[in-house]
Amino acid sequence: MSSSDTVYEIKQLAGSSGIGVEEAVQNAIDRARTPEGTLRWFEVVGARGYIEKGKVSYWQVEVKIGIHPGAEEEKRDAGPAKGEKKPDPEKKEKSEEAGEAKAGNGGKYRCKVCGYIYDPSKGDTDNGVDPGTPFKDLPDDWKCPECGAAKDMFEKV
Ligand SMILES: [Fe+2]
Repeated sequence: MSSSDTVYEIKQLAGSSGIGVEEAVQNAIDRARTPEGTLRWFEVVGARGYIEKGKVSYWQVEVKIGIHPGAEEEKRDAGPAKGEKKPDPEKKEKSEEAGEAKAGNGGKYRCKVCGYIYDPSKGDTDNGVDPGTPFKDLPDDWKCPECGAAKDMFEKV
């Protein structure tokens, strides 16, 4: 074995975009959530689209992303992983007060692109959305945490 043998960790993600394949790939990379500097390459595994009224409305591109493990380990040694916010149990009451949560389904919305379910009682803490945030109160630029689809690609469950 030579010292140039590098082992990569491979993450497979699906990114989506209303503009095109390239932006969908970039969205997937943005969502890979690995420490900066560890991403090395990507490979398009597959691409598909979503058709609305006979027109291409969304591209969904599945990519494999190669992550250089060395750089990541350095960060890991720096201390316990932070940023994993545990949902605050006190905020649970807030979601019950929110009118939408009374709809019987908990005000959940499903991503039409990848099937991700937004659950207001859980929020999207990875992206700064507190538990108890109704779907309609999500910022307009909020995107599906799984595939990067925009808010208007969600439907009520
Ligand atoms: Fe999605």
